[in-house]
Amino acid sequence: MAKVGLFFGSTTGHTEGAAVLIRQEFDQLEEGLAQTFNVVRDPIDRMDEFSYLILGTSTWDDGELQEDWRSLWFELDKVNLSGKKIAIYGLGDQITYPDSFQDALACMAEKIKARGAQLVGLWPAVGYDFFHSTAVENGHFLGLALDNENQANLTPKRIHTWVNQVATEFGLQAYNN
Ligand SMILES: Cc1cc2nc3c(=O)[nH]c(=O)nc-3n(C[C@H](O)[C@H](O)[C@H](O)COP(=O)(O)O)c2cc1C
Repeated sequence: MAKVGLFFGSTTGHTEGAAVLIRQEFDQLEEGLAQTFNVVRDPIDRMDEFSYLILGTSTWDDGELQEDWRSLWFELDKVNLSGKKIAIYGLGDQITYPDSFQDALACMAEKIKARGAQLVGLWPAVGYDFFHSTAVENGHFLGLALDNENQANLTPKRIHTWVNQVATEFGLQAYNN
C-alpha cells in the first residue's frame, strides 16, 4: 500500500507532470510507494490515509495559489494534518514573474504549519534568477521550486535529488543521491 500521498493542483498541466515524475522517482525506491491525487477531482479527505504527504501547487495571478487549491482552501482545515510530515513543491516562472516567484509555496507552508504538521523538503535557492519570493527563508525555498518555462531541462534532476532528500526526511530510506 502507498505510504506517500501526493496531492496536486494544476491549471495547464505542469504541476501534474511533475507529480508523475515524483511518483516515478518514489517507484525507483519501492514500487507503489507514492500515490497521486488531483485535487480538482479527488477528495482531499483521502489525505487521512497517509502519514507522509506531498502537496504540489503552481503560483498564479501575481503570487496566488493555483485555483483548485484556492477553492478548497477552507475545506483543508477539516483534514487532520497534525503530526504528519509534509513536503511541498511548486511550479512558477522566474523570468515573467520575478517579484512573486513561487509565492504559492509560502501560502501552502503557512497552512501546513498552522495545522500542526512538520514541513520537510526545503530546497536551496541557488541556480535561480528572480528578484523576490515570499517562499524563500534563510536562503532556502520552503519546498522544491520548479520552472518549466525557463529551466525545464533541470526539472528531472531536481526532482530526482529532492525525492531522495524527502524520502530520507520522511524516514523511508537512507540518503542516497
Ligand atoms: C496569468 C499567469 C500568472 C502567473 N503568475 C505567476 C506568479 O505570480 N509567480 C510565478 O512564479 N509564476 C506565475 N505564473 C507561471 C505559472 O506558475 C507556470 O506557468 C506554471 O508552470 C503553471 O503550472 P500549472 O500548469 O501546473 O498550473 C503565472 C502564469 C500565468 C499564465
